[in-house]
Amino acid sequence: MGGIQRLTQIIDDFYTRLLQDPMIGFHFKPFPKEQLVRGQVEFVRRIFGDRSGTYELRPLKQVHSPFKLLPGQIARRFQILKETLQDWKLDESCQKRWLNADEKVASSLT
Ligand code: HEM
Repeated sequence: MGGIQRLTQIIDDFYTRLLQDPMIGFHFKPFPKEQLVRGQVEFVRRIFGDRSGTYELRPLKQVHSPFKLLPGQIARRFQILKETLQDWKLDESCQKRWLNADEKVASSLT
């Protein structure tokens, strides 16, 4: 994928897009972008079997329960993630692995 530096750039871009989104951007705006990026980088590192990160992820159901997420909002985020990975030309197998893991978690958040 190009290492942690490129992964961080991809996820930074993902949050730039999420923060600008008229439908779900408001959920992310109260949080510092670096905090959002740090959590997501750790999540994706783990998808790819990298356990060397130092950030300890919090339980995701708990983190998201205050937002009372709707299925349409989850779907919107997923669409933006897909577009981001395509635009960064991540190889197909990486995209699939990332999106599958993300979708699995997503289904537990509504
Ligand atoms: C529209 C839907 C979603 C919204 C609005 C949302 C919003 C947020 C926000 C605001 C945070 C930061 C909370 C904090 O720092 O206290 C967060 C953290 C996080 N979200 Fe989401 N989220 C959504 C869906 C998802 C999905 C589907 C996943 C699946 C992977 C996900 C994974 C994470 C992870 C890994 C963190 C970091 C947790 C940590 O720092 O310990 N989110 N989310």
